[in-house]
Amino acid sequence: MTADPTARTTGPARFSEERSAEVVAASFAGTPDARLGEVMTALVRHLHAFVKDVEPTVDEWAAAIGFLTEVGTACTPVRQEFVLLSDVLGVSMLVETMNNRADRGTESTVEGPFHLVRSPARELGADIALDGKGEPCLVTGTVRGVDGTPVPGAAVDVWQANADGFYDVQQPEQQPEGNLRGLFTTDDEGRFWFRSIVPRYYPVPTDGPVGRLLQATGRHPNRPAHIHFDVRACGYRPLLTHLFVADTPYLDSDAVFGVKDSLVREFPTVDDPARAAEVGLPNPFRAVHFDVVLRPETPADGA
Ligand code: BEZ
Ligand code: FE
Repeated sequence: MTADPTARTTGPARFSEERSAEVVAASFAGTPDARLGEVMTALVRHLHAFVKDVEPTVDEWAAAIGFLTEVGTACTPVRQEFVLLSDVLGVSMLVETMNNRADRGTESTVEGPFHLVRSPARELGADIALDGKGEPCLVTGTVRGVDGTPVPGAAVDVWQANADGFYDVQQPEQQPEGNLRGLFTTDDEGRFWFRSIVPRYYPVPTDGPVGRLLQATGRHPNRPAHIHFDVRACGYRPLLTHLFVADTPYLDSDAVFGVKDSLVREFPTVDDPARAAEVGLPNPFRAVHFDVVLRPETPADGA
């Protein structure tokens, strides 16, 4: 039964510094949605503990609310400053990792804000570097299930920054639309391959309140060089992950904590004119191989 909201509160049920969390949490006791009630109760418990730990002044609390307000107003249809805040606080990676616990299958990582557009469908072997800038690179791999079975017909969506560290959507005037993006379909043996360039490290957007937070706390904004992968196939769990370049700076200090050792690969130089001609790249070129293992859709299938 819901408590009578007009009833007077006295004694131990009244708000006090000591019992603040308990009293406020009790106000959610009648939440019809049990999960929402559980979440709000935990939020109150942790938030009150945080405030008691930090003991903010009134001005500091107003500044905190002002900061969150700015984070909200910085959001647009193509910019999500709250996600960026969650990213730099490591919460995006924590949620991602907790929801993809697996001892088999390729590890996941954050999606990031630049998967804004559906990548253009391209033929296997296509060159996604439409602006012709950067160090040419061949990317190859196979999509398999956890039992090793190749997955033909899997959708492999890739996107990456250019040689200057910018995504096409950040530089609509300088980069062709769809630059360094491609949606590939694996062949009968589950293989994919495409031509690209070696990506460069780059900073997360720093021109908003989250950038100011990084600066005020002496943190750098950079992410190590990577290629994003979104891999999907019928009967398998979708996978959002990155392929990291082994010799990139910032591998040990990613601004969004996205690096997992299992996702780091060498990009060796191949000096082989015949192979270069075969794959349609100038000699020498860099090459990387990234096999992807998808977990089955239902854990009962062996995830
Ligand atoms: C990215 O990798 O594209 C990214 C991820 C999180 C925040 C900003 C950028
Ligand atoms: Fe990225």
